[in-house]
Amino acid sequence: MQVIIRPTKEKASWLAARVIARDLRSKPDLVLGLATGQTMERLYGRLVQLHREEQLDFSLCRTFNLDEYIGLPPGDKNSYRYYMNHHLFDHVNIDMRNTFLPDGMAEDLGAECTRYEGLIHDVGGIDLQLLGIGRAGHIGFNEPLSALQSRTREKVLTPLTIEENSTLFEDPSRMPRRAFTMGVGTILECARLVVLVTGESKAKVLAKAVEGPITSMVTASAIQLHPNCTVICEEEAASALQEKEYYRWIFDNEPEWNDFRDL
Ligand code: F6R
Repeated sequence: MQVIIRPTKEKASWLAARVIARDLRSKPDLVLGLATGQTMERLYGRLVQLHREEQLDFSLCRTFNLDEYIGLPPGDKNSYRYYMNHHLFDHVNIDMRNTFLPDGMAEDLGAECTRYEGLIHDVGGIDLQLLGIGRAGHIGFNEPLSALQSRTREKVLTPLTIEENSTLFEDPSRMPRRAFTMGVGTILECARLVVLVTGESKAKVLAKAVEGPITSMVTASAIQLHPNCTVICEEEAASALQEKEYYRWIFDNEPEWNDFRDL
């Protein structure tokens, strides 16, 4: 794992956008795994900017989102399909038929999970999966005690996740208590992970995920098992990390990051 600490949220988001853009340019039919949430809004803004100003081409890109609320139709303003259309898909030249999320209105929940895993399998797996980390320690909606080998399934959300996310609903009591989520095992099979974490409220959980023990109590700690994982954060989110000096040295010196330091 590599941890990159940028001075601001804006710079962290730019770096994540540039990493995605580089992979998309070198493989135009990239299979991109996407996340939602407040952290990603800035990043999607930068991807839209790269499309407009530098012709970043999404026409062949396929996308798979990590999760979707159960019981919300795609047109609901709080569904993750709506979020993706609003923040990214409507503003770039992606073919909507190549954008996939679990169907929150599926009648047979188990069959929907099997279908979603099958779709990922049929495209040959995800090349780059974008992840955020929730204060409950989750990646996707893999709440505490999610098996580290879990697959796409329905998950009951924790009170903390409900508290955090329900503020985005006009009527917080309307927030679903269940969601579909890719499993931790599904996520670990992606070829590359890019984790974007910003804000002081994430400092403790980021330290647990990156430097703490690997445990299903903090499913984000499973990223330590992945052979190609880049964590991008900013000073506030990084404030509880112990090895900051080492992480900084790598970013400042490793040739891999030469093109990214001046962003
Ligand atoms: C959402 C997702 C979640 C979020 C996490 C952080 O698709 O996968 O794991 O990334 O809850 O959300 P924010 O950025 O809103 O703090």
